[in-house]
Amino acid sequence: MESALLPEVQPGGTSTLRPMVPERFRVSERRQETADTWTLELEPVDRTGGIEFEPGQFMMLYAFGAGEVPISISGDPRRADRLVHTVRAVGATSAAICRTQPGRMLGVRGPFGSNWPVEEAEGRHAVIVAGGIGLAPLRPVVYEVLSARDRFAGATLLYGGRQPEQLLYVDELEEWRERGLEVAVTVDIAPAEWPGRVGVVPTLIERTRFDPAAAVAFVCGPEAMIRFSAEALIGRGVAPDRVHISMERNMKCAVGHCGRCQLGPEFVCRDGPVFTFERMRAAFTVREV
Ligand SMILES: Cc1cc2nc3c(=O)[nH]c(=O)nc-3n(C[C@H](O)[C@H](O)[C@H](O)COP(=O)(O)OP(=O)(O)OC[C@H]3O[C@@H](n4cnc5c(N)ncnc54)[C@H](O)[C@@H]3O)c2cc1C
Ligand code: FES
Repeated sequence: MESALLPEVQPGGTSTLRPMVPERFRVSERRQETADTWTLELEPVDRTGGIEFEPGQFMMLYAFGAGEVPISISGDPRRADRLVHTVRAVGATSAAICRTQPGRMLGVRGPFGSNWPVEEAEGRHAVIVAGGIGLAPLRPVVYEVLSARDRFAGATLLYGGRQPEQLLYVDELEEWRERGLEVAVTVDIAPAEWPGRVGVVPTLIERTRFDPAAAVAFVCGPEAMIRFSAEALIGRGVAPDRVHISMERNMKCAVGHCGRCQLGPEFVCRDGPVFTFERMRAAFTVREV
């Protein structure tokens, strides 16, 4: 019998969840990334199959008794058996999610939203530009590109954080370099012994070698960083419709019903969160954005 409480299981054993009904997932691993950020691995409790998702999609994570918030999937799209999320504790709900210990449950809905069009960069240069926690929604792009590195003419990650100790996935950055990703890191503020670059992410765009006519960019981070990075890319000659960005808005339903995430004519949960910069350009000229 069909039930709104049961997941829709696809023939391959994986499934999407019923959009409005949280399903229980157990925290199987919890790793501290920085002072306020944790990565959680979640395994399904109420089903056997995993969750298929595209890079850039998000889930609604529900901390029982605290609330529900949108969080991008930061794991490998080829590992549908588990969900991986990197969460920064900025308020009551995100802090409750970060505190959830291995063995405890979270409610999960999704996946939702549009995805990074990684295939558009095949035969071209994938330029991945991340600021702070913005590397989390972009990590699936890195995994996708590195799983078929020879299909891309070039692959570069430009990553900026506020301070060295706030950088995510530090151990993985070196591994990605060894597998063919050009990685440049910068921080806003650094102690004298910091061997790397100091400055904001858009300054890396100016210094990086790539053919703008053959580049496809994926940009995620705080909105000011997105705007200045997109303008720097376009200033170098990348076409505005080849600059893809991910937008954040508060969300409730995540399925285009409640209007909470509305931004001009777009519902960020349904039409986004990934948009071309060209499509969102007008929104960046509005003062409250
Ligand atoms: C599509 C999408 C994907 C997202 N992916 C991730 C992700 O992968 N990892 C992650 O950590 N977060 C992600 N976020 C942001 C996350 O949803 C918010 O941080 C969360 O909703 C905050 O809820 P809260 O109840 O904990 O805090 P609130 O009570 O809502 O906010 C507490 C304080 O933090 C401020 N605040 C709220 N959100 C942010 C923010 N994003 N950055 C800085 N300050 C903020 C508020 O203005 C307020 O002052 C995503 C958001 C969207 C829309
Ligand atoms: S969150 Fe309800 S319409 Fe987007």
